[in-house]
Amino acid sequence: MKKYRIGIVGATGAVGQEIISLLEKREFPVAEARLLASANSAGRQMQACGNLETIQETTADSFKDLDIAIFSAGSKQSLEFAEASRQHGCVVIDNSSAFRMDPLVPLVVPEINPDDLEKHQGIIANPNCSTAVALMGLYPLHKRFGLKRFIASTYQAVSGAGAAGFDALENELKAQFVPEENSSTATKDSPFPHPIAHNLLPHIDDFREDGYTKEELKMKNESRKILGNPSLKVSCTCVRVPVYRAHSISLSAEFSQPVNVPDAKAAIEGFNGAELWDLPNANRYPTPLQYAEKEDCGVGRIRIDQAFDNGLSLWVVGDQLWKGAALNAIQIAETLVEKKCLKWM
Ligand SMILES: NC(=O)c1ccc[n+]([C@@H]2O[C@H](COP(=O)([O-])OP(=O)(O)OC[C@H]3O[C@@H](n4cnc5c(N)ncnc54)[C@H](OP(=O)(O)O)[C@@H]3O)[C@@H](O)[C@H]2O)c1
Repeated sequence: MKKYRIGIVGATGAVGQEIISLLEKREFPVAEARLLASANSAGRQMQACGNLETIQETTADSFKDLDIAIFSAGSKQSLEFAEASRQHGCVVIDNSSAFRMDPLVPLVVPEINPDDLEKHQGIIANPNCSTAVALMGLYPLHKRFGLKRFIASTYQAVSGAGAAGFDALENELKAQFVPEENSSTATKDSPFPHPIAHNLLPHIDDFREDGYTKEELKMKNESRKILGNPSLKVSCTCVRVPVYRAHSISLSAEFSQPVNVPDAKAAIEGFNGAELWDLPNANRYPTPLQYAEKEDCGVGRIRIDQAFDNGLSLWVVGDQLWKGAALNAIQIAETLVEKKCLKWM
């Protein structure tokens, strides 16, 4: 079996660590795992794919002789190094938002739009974590009933803000943090503007002039691109919650055809990558604790929506470090290999 040389940019980060463990877990055929990070980590050693590897500083030359580079180091680093990777003939799978809306870059969830990979020109974008998880519940319903518009409220785990987000919650809980009255001060080194333990923050990414955050716009714009529907109407509120891992999303969606719950459940059951977990009277609905480190996204609380005509409400939970980042990226690599379209030049 052919094996591939893979660069992992951001190998020391929250997503990078999951990429290493999922490459092993899914037995991706790795000939070399090249661990790339910032100068701060260069020289440190780490186990990856059966070998003790030395972390290297990422430079334009880091991609020589690689087949695939999975970037998880932030948009700035992707913009700085992706082109160098491409020039070396090494296909980029990018977890940042840098290229997602570039019309020349496929934005792919392999269970939904794998054929878009055939058009790649050396850079492929991985979707925003909440968008990927939401679409794992919405897409099978879209195929069955025809999605017209949806409203999403997200409940996003702290590790969505990287290792620093995880540490912020852990430090606050360890210190038995109790927010002072009217306190708006986050703990030292926290990526959040307010305390996150015992709190909820309706604020992820920067605010725009229209009052939405950039994260909320990703749900609209990326859903449109992945589903191939540029006029899809989407409204979203993103909330950071004191949960370590796995994002949860409440969805109300309107469809063009009449809906019913049994057919909706059957559509979810028949969709690879989603698990129907929906027996409310037996307390069976997806939770972040249950879906952390699970490849499938859980879908439950499916019911007729009371505000939309032909509407369904549902609750989707998925591990954002996996389906929202590392797993989806590796599934893209696997699909490129299957489709024999790794090379574009
Ligand atoms: N966390 C999630 O759930 C999630 C989900 C979807 C997408 N993403 C995206 O994935 C990316 C990484 O997120 P994360 O959560 O893993 O962040 P993180 O835990 O903060 O990790 C950041 C990584 O980037 C590396 N890095 C920083 N500056 C660098 C430089 N100049 N050159 C090379 N590497 C550099 C860091 O290396 P050092 O250790 O050497 O500093 C570290 O490995 C972001 O674009 C994020 O938006 C994250």
